[in-house]
Amino acid sequence: MIGKNLQDNLDIKVNSKKMEKLKDDFPEFFTKEGDFKLDSFKDFLKEEEVELTKEAYELDFLGKSYAKYESSLNTETYISPDVEHNEKPENKDSENVYIVGDNIDALKHLLGSYSGKIKCIYIDPPYNTGSDGFVYPDSFKFTAENLAEKIGITEEEADRILNLEGKSSHAAWLTFMYPRLLLARDLLADDGVIFISIDDNEQANLKLMCDEIFGEDNFVGCISRATGTTTGQDANKVGSSLDYCLSYSKTSLFNLGGIPLNEQDAKRFNKKDEKGDFSILQLRKTGNEDRKEDRETMFFPIKAPDGSEVYPFGPENYLSRWRMSNDSYKELLREDMIYWEYEEKSELIIDGYERSNWTPYVKYYLEGRTKQISNLLTGIEGNKKASIHLKNLFGFKDAFTNPKPIEFLEILIQISQSENSIVLDFFSGSSTTAETVLKLNAKYKYKIKYMLVQLPETILTNKPAYKAGYRTVDEIGRDRIERAAAKIKDETKADIDYGYKLFYLEKPREKTLLDLEEFKPEIKLVSDDMISVFDNKHASGKENILATWLNEDGYGLIKEAIDYKLENYIAQLIEKTLYIIDEGLESDDVMKLIKQIEDDSLDITRLVIYSYSVKFSVLNELRKNIKVLKNNKNVTLIERF
Ligand SMILES: C[S@@+](CC[C@H](N)C(=O)[O-])C[C@H]1O[C@@H](n2cnc3c(N)ncnc32)[C@H](O)[C@@H]1O
Repeated sequence: MIGKNLQDNLDIKVNSKKMEKLKDDFPEFFTKEGDFKLDSFKDFLKEEEVELTKEAYELDFLGKSYAKYESSLNTETYISPDVEHNEKPENKDSENVYIVGDNIDALKHLLGSYSGKIKCIYIDPPYNTGSDGFVYPDSFKFTAENLAEKIGITEEEADRILNLEGKSSHAAWLTFMYPRLLLARDLLADDGVIFISIDDNEQANLKLMCDEIFGEDNFVGCISRATGTTTGQDANKVGSSLDYCLSYSKTSLFNLGGIPLNEQDAKRFNKKDEKGDFSILQLRKTGNEDRKEDRETMFFPIKAPDGSEVYPFGPENYLSRWRMSNDSYKELLREDMIYWEYEEKSELIIDGYERSNWTPYVKYYLEGRTKQISNLLTGIEGNKKASIHLKNLFGFKDAFTNPKPIEFLEILIQISQSENSIVLDFFSGSSTTAETVLKLNAKYKYKIKYMLVQLPETILTNKPAYKAGYRTVDEIGRDRIERAAAKIKDETKADIDYGYKLFYLEKPREKTLLDLEEFKPEIKLVSDDMISVFDNKHASGKENILATWLNEDGYGLIKEAIDYKLENYIAQLIEKTLYIIDEGLESDDVMKLIKQIEDDSLDITRLVIYSYSVKFSVLNELRKNIKVLKNNKNVTLIERF
């Protein structure tokens, strides 16, 4: 079922995906033969007054061209839903997603349905500290000769790239991260943002890499978070009490949100009227450029409560100015946003203007007010607290090393303004992101959905989690979600989505892969039943094929297809797509299908068939009839293998 993807992989080059995008967005710069019209493109840039520059610099590393190539390749995995888990009452209607698998495959799958739809991505990748276990995981399927030819490098360089396997050098880490970030960018919505946790080991490299992938202009900031513990003090170096989080928006459409005020902030709102608690700020401009001559138009009389005229006077007895124009002031007055204080002052007249005893202020109401964060986050939960929280949830210490604090993630999700959207974490570890989402949804009635990806990384036998019975990291991550959900439900009684849908990314057996790669619909030389070869412990082959295709065709991981009976054959229908996966489609089913399309009783635009399942004669009948549909009907026949 992924045979076409595998066959396409044979022709993929380093920049194939980017070229596709370029052609899609700028067809006018390509000839019929696919050649690029460089001069027309230069003229276009000139019209927009964009200068060409030769003074360029960029991050270069061994493996960069391979990393680009890897991001272009199609995944060799399929999506397998855990049917039993997903049918449980608490998960049946859930829109949260947990994917067990390598995130490079997960990201490629997700692009089928979620491209441009993710508002917030948070990731906490391996920091490559030397002791965090990061090694480059790819077991390249190429010989040096092969790779050199594929990506246009020398064999010597290809050999060095192949040697990255199992290494934890900077080049290995960058080669690992680069394709993942390239894919992640495509998932972001235009008003979306990505946050990436990192420390000093790779911060500088990550910054340059992100400048290249997301664009320097889209750098939102580097948030330094006080971890609450200082490490590295024993070495002859400055101890480290910070951890960083680089953030980039997809485009300038991103709006940075604020975070709710804490108790300390709220204390400033110590005045009250019928509209609620408020604080005040002088209407007079304070600080720099506060003099009348700095903005003559913002020097005008306003009426005090007793009807007298008030002019702005500076603290050192000079004529000052208001912080707004007369029109803006009138607007505030209409909205009852002006507050007055009265205090007897000594008489002062400058240039004929008399100082008043009245001072005007602007009211700032507490309700709905948030504050913008700075790039130094202090005073929030540190790493130790996060570990204690996990210990309390699991009932034993160190279930997971270095989980991130929930309070930190709360801040990131809130400033990304994703109250109703999807938050993706594709290095999810102990699932802190999921617990944070549940907490925010319960507290603020948000409707955020989370999507987590976690490698089924083996837990070493000497780890506390192993002793407690967990064998892979995703088991801890999933159990954390369930424990946290039960706790939040118990504490808040909030009516939110506590469940999640579970999917595994599986690789077909080698023989199946070969069959898939070599399949030709006209000469079906496959000995196996190509549906049951995809059976596994989570789902039947048919369920796996359907889940993979629904996602590939843009229906996502949540929506389900329904059975649709033709003459005797049962197909699967979702919106305007009909899937023929099972064997057994006969002539009378084809006739019924065609009739129903033509008489409008079946409104579809796409018919997707599993080529192995349909007899050649029936397939031909289908192909012929679909081409000549009556009543102006148009249905695209997609044959997949
Ligand atoms: C630093 S931890 C994340 C911790 C997480 N933020 C938390 O609070 O628990 C990084 C996680 O990424 C996972 N990981 C590493 N490589 C991966 C890959 N290729 N695909 C998916 N997950 C991966 C590791 O197993 C680890 O659990």
